Amino acid sequence: MNIRLIGEDEVQDAYYLSAQAFRCGTRDDNFAVKRQADADKPDTVGIGVYDDAGLQTKVMVIAYEEVFEDKFVAPMGGIGGVACLPASRGKGYAAAGLKYALEVMKDSGQYLSALYPFSWAFYRTLGWEWVGVQREYKVPAAILKSVPETESVREATSADRPAIAKIYSKYCQRYRGMAARDLRAWNRLLNHREGNYTYTYVYEGPSGLEGYLTFSGMDRDSTFINEFIVLNTTAQKALLGLLKRHDMQVKSFRWNAPDNDQFWSTFYHNDLSTSISTVTQGRVVDVAAALSALKPGLAVSGKVAVGITDTAAPWNTGVWQIGVEAGTVTATQAGSEPDISLDIQAFTQAYYGTPSLAAVREHSGVAVSSERAFALLTDLLDGPPMWLNDHF
Ligand SMILES: CC(C)(COP(=O)(O)OP(=O)(O)OC[C@H]1O[C@@H](n2cnc3c(N)ncnc32)[C@H](O)[C@@H]1OP(=O)(O)O)[C@@H](O)C(=O)NCCC(=O)NCCS
Repeated sequence: MNIRLIGEDEVQDAYYLSAQAFRCGTRDDNFAVKRQADADKPDTVGIGVYDDAGLQTKVMVIAYEEVFEDKFVAPMGGIGGVACLPASRGKGYAAAGLKYALEVMKDSGQYLSALYPFSWAFYRTLGWEWVGVQREYKVPAAILKSVPETESVREATSADRPAIAKIYSKYCQRYRGMAARDLRAWNRLLNHREGNYTYTYVYEGPSGLEGYLTFSGMDRDSTFINEFIVLNTTAQKALLGLLKRHDMQVKSFRWNAPDNDQFWSTFYHNDLSTSISTVTQGRVVDVAAALSALKPGLAVSGKVAVGITDTAAPWNTGVWQIGVEAGTVTATQAGSEPDISLDIQAFTQAYYGTPSLAAVREHSGVAVSSERAFALLTDLLDGPPMWLNDHF
């Protein structure tokens, strides 16, 4: 077995692998051309696992950045396109490719990673764990209300995009984990798609745009809104009124929102359904870098020794002496006994904050020998909920 980055001249092999793993063997040359362009993107790295018969397994690492409130922006490796040819499955190739991806991410400064798993168990053994809780609303258009505020809603034009991005970045600062988007990401969300128009509406308040929603195509039974973000309840009311105007075309609308979103309780109705699910499977790739990025308040200070076990990324394993002082954090390997011991999966959850360190302690294996140290780590990792609305 040989693991290395997939060369530009090998993109067709990667495409062949993807076609079999994800598209039931459908051969679509346009798709191949697009994949070629994607592979040329500087933000995507393809890792290949080779044996004597050539490329057998691939793992793609896509460069993202996650916003943690107004405090810092974390480089994150988004994992996608993990696939192994059927005749080579069960030999440990995918696991080996993912371990190599962890090294690639660490070397390029991506101290966090996230993915959307086909199986939580598969990635859990390699150190990823679920993070974030989100609500999915399903609302019959008929129960929405017509309100005068909808008069301030209009269809967005391309000139509105900077203002839409501004609403989004303001909103990001209320959470941990939302993607910092570049122009390409905005185009993916707001451009028309192959076969479908994309409809985007904005609410214009007294001081400019205060909310937007966007969806591509319409399903008569249930239309999914790709993003519905507002900065205040007036904008929300107004945009809901716009959805109401679709009640002769669309039976119900669905959208995702963070766990602390209050729509379900402010708009309570027997026919409104709210379900919850996890957001993504995350991973701290580099414990030292992730800890050093934290920006705690000045009131948080002290020292705590945290023991971490990480079999897939051995550089994280050990006892970390964490020092917190004057809003900065240092993390160095220490020979001392740990105050708190946990595995990388539990540490990742506490780092993203949903579930919280206290919840992780209650439900997973966190050993605590000093309550003072536990209180300090809790304060250090305190913050708003995790949410991410970008998919890869
Ligand atoms: C999923 C896939 C990449 C696994 O590749 P693989 O090379 O066979 O996986 P590995 O041999 O490295 O398996 C690593 C571990 O995961 C386990 N595993 C493998 N396939 C699994 C599955 N479908 N569900 C749960 N666990 C699985 C293995 O038993 C092994 O565990 P072990 O270390 O305890 O023995 C491959 O089956 C595939 O290409 N599937 C189709 C595409 C796909 O769904 N990709 C995932 C996108 S998120």
